[in-house]
Amino acid sequence: MTVPQPPEPIPGARLLFSLDPSVSHLNHGSFGAVPIAVQRAQQRLRDEMEANPLRFFTQGLVDRIAHARRHLATFLGADPEGTTLVGNATTGAAVVLQSLALRPGDEIVTTDHGYGAVALSVARECGRTGAVHRTLPVPLTATDEEVVEIVRTGLRPGRTRLLIVDQLTSPTARLFPTAAIVAVAREQGVPVLVDAAHAPGMLPATVASVGADFWVGNLHKWAYAPRGTAVLVVAPQWREKIQPLVVSWEQDSGFPVRVEWQATLDYTGWLAAPVGLFTLRSLGVDRVRAHNAALAAYGQRVVGDALGVAPERLPEPGGPAVAMRLVPLPPGVATTLDAARELRTRIADRLSAEVSIAGWNGRGYLRLCGQVYNTPDEYDRLAVRLPTLLAQG
Ligand SMILES: Cc1ncc(COP(=O)(O)O)c(C=O)c1O
Repeated sequence: MTVPQPPEPIPGARLLFSLDPSVSHLNHGSFGAVPIAVQRAQQRLRDEMEANPLRFFTQGLVDRIAHARRHLATFLGADPEGTTLVGNATTGAAVVLQSLALRPGDEIVTTDHGYGAVALSVARECGRTGAVHRTLPVPLTATDEEVVEIVRTGLRPGRTRLLIVDQLTSPTARLFPTAAIVAVAREQGVPVLVDAAHAPGMLPATVASVGADFWVGNLHKWAYAPRGTAVLVVAPQWREKIQPLVVSWEQDSGFPVRVEWQATLDYTGWLAAPVGLFTLRSLGVDRVRAHNAALAAYGQRVVGDALGVAPERLPEPGGPAVAMRLVPLPPGVATTLDAARELRTRIADRLSAEVSIAGWNGRGYLRLCGQVYNTPDEYDRLAVRLPTLLAQG
């Protein structure tokens, strides 16, 4: 079986990171990896903070955060006035959910490709308010047109207070046609939250082109920012309704500052985040995207081959820039959350490879990412050793 050629490596890219060289880090998507230059920039900011904490927090910090926010929003093609910094995508989703003032009879609609922690947040908000959570099943093989139709017929105007769709799904590494989904929801008057946790740095689509009411994205995954750096972008008609999870001193400053200012937190990650974009730009944004997507596709094919999965049965991501790919595991393997965690740990311990394993709709999947620090032989090694490990049960 012919496997596609892996991409040319980006010379020296691995040296930009402080990753343990004895491990194959094939799961950039879960927690990212922070380049050394970004770590250093954050450390310099921490040094400044510790040299005089009073001065750091009370003289100009709100403006420095606003400056970083404008930088990040511009990169994402988002309106800086409609963008607020938050700690992570999960927090951004929770901010939106609790700002909706849900009531009994209201419903929140998601798909069955949604992120687990966001689903738990929906469940809690529904439990608190008497609203209900309805999940739309979307087959893994659905075409974009079918996905849009499932959503169009799955909304109940007047009752559906929010639709949450993922731009790139976590358990299934599937790109959803979010702009088209937003358009059909808008026809029915249903607001949409796009969970774009993986989009910043990976996907070329701008936030404005998606056109959602709410859009959350993590900079700490594919945009090389320090962890704890995410944005929530809000359409003009919603901005005044958005409330922070915790009220603090900037409450009367309105959106976006009242969401951002959360008292004595460590804001150095946000201030250093533009250095992540600088690193990405120095490597070449398009070059990094093309490299990562091609390497993930290569990894999917070699590991799929090793597990006997025919190329036509390997799930397609739905777009060229996607740097995460799925390989179906043999039936019965890693179908539950516990089993998936156990297998991921076993692969990490025995094969020195970090991967993502998720059970989705009764089937276990291995998810592989491609990043500039990865090389084809890391996927080759996993492919050689994984079948034996799975056979050992
Ligand atoms: C689709 C999606 N939403 C939300 C999240 C949560 O991100 P965080 O843990 O940074 O809140 C993830 C993380 O991988 C994700 O894939």
